[in-house]
Amino acid sequence: MSITFDKILEFIRGYYNQASEPILLHEPIFIGNERNYVLDAIDSTYVSSVGKYVDRFEQMMCDYTGAAHAVATVNGTAALHISLILAGVRKDDLVITQPLTFIATCNALSYIGAEPLFVDIDKDTLGLSPSKLKHFLSQSTRVINKECYHKDSGRRISACVPMHTFGHPTKLDELVSICESFHIKLVEDAAESIGSTFKGKHTGTFGLLGAFSFNGNKTITAGGGGIIVTDDNKLAKLAKHLTTQAKVAHAWDFVHDQVGYNYRLPNLNAALACAQMELLEKFISSKRQLAKAYKNFFSVSEIEFIDEPIGAKSNFWLNAILLKDKSERDSFLQFANERKVMARPAWMLMNKLEMFKNCIAGNLDNAIDIEGRLVNLPSSALEHMSDTQK
Ligand SMILES: Cc1ncc(COP(=O)(O)O)c(C=O)c1O
Repeated sequence: MSITFDKILEFIRGYYNQASEPILLHEPIFIGNERNYVLDAIDSTYVSSVGKYVDRFEQMMCDYTGAAHAVATVNGTAALHISLILAGVRKDDLVITQPLTFIATCNALSYIGAEPLFVDIDKDTLGLSPSKLKHFLSQSTRVINKECYHKDSGRRISACVPMHTFGHPTKLDELVSICESFHIKLVEDAAESIGSTFKGKHTGTFGLLGAFSFNGNKTITAGGGGIIVTDDNKLAKLAKHLTTQAKVAHAWDFVHDQVGYNYRLPNLNAALACAQMELLEKFISSKRQLAKAYKNFFSVSEIEFIDEPIGAKSNFWLNAILLKDKSERDSFLQFANERKVMARPAWMLMNKLEMFKNCIAGNLDNAIDIEGRLVNLPSSALEHMSDTQK
């Protein structure tokens, strides 16, 4: 059966119980201890990068994800930047990632002077495809002294950065094993996937390092914020050192032993993050409830709803559907946005952007197809969550 655009908006407006107000793509919700904790941080005078909420937030993230260490940063891009440095990425290296991602993935590796190498996504996860990765690496690279080199360019491939698109975990077990056999460090861009697990283990904890974002548009927010998680004690210490201007600990002296970054998360933002962490499970069950409703709604139509991948639990950060073609996608985007229901296309593929258009790429057929047809639909948790949604 074909569903009219009108019916889709009627369903969304009905679900959010909003007859005419704008419905945003993803709104933050502050219904817990946010005010208390932020005011407490102000009263303590610890508003910058040192304070009890920074420590608490890091511990909460360790407890929640199962990672041994967590280092909070000003945003997710900074978390990725430092993670890539710690993974050993150097200037002129190639770093494998997917073309369907937010610009921050490619920006972070570019800050080091490395270049993205694009490998296609799978259609069921929208994340980096293990089969395409294996094919590319087998055909186009050679391993010399436990380092992987791209045959044609002679450049080193030091890291691989899969991204868990819209919160859907990608096939991490296969990616871990492929990266291991080609001596490539795995760094997860888990910016969108707080609360999403693959085979029961939290995303971000499969690679050497994982980076999360707590931007205002994410499942939970710190206003702006990020975090690096890792099980490696030495890397965690270095992450903290590099993000605090590489200052050598001393009671009064200013000694810095390398070029560092002012990337630590302020206590004020961490206070917000702690309060949001307390609400995370509530938000996720509300978002999963919404995803279920979208799935049921679209199940009687030709429109494909992007469901969570097999073996994974998704936070459904952003719900997505696939329309017939680009023309239908554009018509729907226009229709919905004119009626104040915020629907969005996928990001323009990274390999199409001016800065990255000459980068090395494998066959990107899946990403090209998805980019032309995908639409994200409003995905905020409900502010008034009933008990059945917990
Ligand atoms: C895939 C991806 N990577 C990285 C980031 C960067 O996070 P931030 O905006 O906190 O710097 C984001 C989100 O904004 C993202 O969606």
